[in-house]
Amino acid sequence: DSAEKGEYRHFMLKEIYEQPKVIKATMEGRVTDSRVLEQALGTEAANLLDNVRHVQIIACGTSYHAGMVARYWIEELAGVPCSVEVASEFRYRKHVIQPDTLFLCISQSGETADTLAALRQAKKAGFRAALAICNVPGSSLVRESDLVIMTQAGPEIGVASTKAFTTQLTALLIFTLALARHNGLSAEREADIVSALHQVPGQVSDILALNGGIEEMSRAFMDKFHSLFLGRGSQFPVAMEGALKLKEISYIHAEAYPAGELKHGPLALVDSEMPVVTVAPNNDLVEKLKSNLEEVRARGGELFVFADKSAGVKAEEGVHVMQLPPVHEITAPIVYTVPLQLLSYHVAVLKGTDVDQPRNLAKSVTVE
Ligand code: G6P
Repeated sequence: DSAEKGEYRHFMLKEIYEQPKVIKATMEGRVTDSRVLEQALGTEAANLLDNVRHVQIIACGTSYHAGMVARYWIEELAGVPCSVEVASEFRYRKHVIQPDTLFLCISQSGETADTLAALRQAKKAGFRAALAICNVPGSSLVRESDLVIMTQAGPEIGVASTKAFTTQLTALLIFTLALARHNGLSAEREADIVSALHQVPGQVSDILALNGGIEEMSRAFMDKFHSLFLGRGSQFPVAMEGALKLKEISYIHAEAYPAGELKHGPLALVDSEMPVVTVAPNNDLVEKLKSNLEEVRARGGELFVFADKSAGVKAEEGVHVMQLPPVHEITAPIVYTVPLQLLSYHVAVLKGTDVDQPRNLAKSVTVE
């Protein structure tokens, strides 16, 4: 049924709505109520996880953004140093390989030319092992990797990736928890995060129920040429992914910045013609984020904030706030991605672009 749009106007919308189901499917058989089943990551997993001292993540496009989120998780929960790089950069430079580095490729298709080339180089260069997070069984990436965690997104038809991204994040968090257990994460913390992960499908459904309000918000973007996306911490890559979605399907120029960098350049661009989108969950950084928002507001910028209900971000003239249900800080990047997908989708529909097949882009870039 994945090749049919059914009741949906576009594959992209259908795929956005499939997320609760496919996130759950990606967890199935890999987590219990309170812990990750590392055997599900392969028979070699336990031995490997014991010996990993560094993780090098390689990917392109949306998959690269998943890798950026994973770096926050891996360093926070496992305390293992992690580097992330786009495959096309990695493959053409000399790199220093730290001992016992796990090479982790993320790819929806498993056929992206740059990612495969980087993997082939890494295998020659002496990385400890190659782990793939991939959505297509039997793809080149899967065949050429030592360990594989398959995402269970099902076929993704829309060129702009949606459910592949949130299932990649799900798989990456499961991997991180397994690695973290080998590096001193307590059973209580693991249980707390696994229980938060079990809540994600329901929370994504709650976000989907806000679709009407997000559609309403999207009208403000129709006649704009530029936009700015802000996030802090693990929500910075979410802002990058939100900006990428808007660029890909609505052709509006969108740039993402870590909110703390606002003063170092992008603030000069802010005026009433430049909408600023922000993801603001209720974590330690929310107060800092609020002061960034005030700076934008003071320059006449119109703000669109997706915020945790309890974060205390108030709607006022020029500040549109979409209150989201409370979400665990670790799983927040998965959940907060969804409203940004819907926002881009509705802007593109209003603009009348070819949502599922945006101009100049391909679903899988198999040649350089
Ligand atoms: C293309 C697609 C993107 C995708 C990227 C990486 O640019 O349009 O949606 O994120 O390739 O693809 P991969 O299959 O390696 O995840």
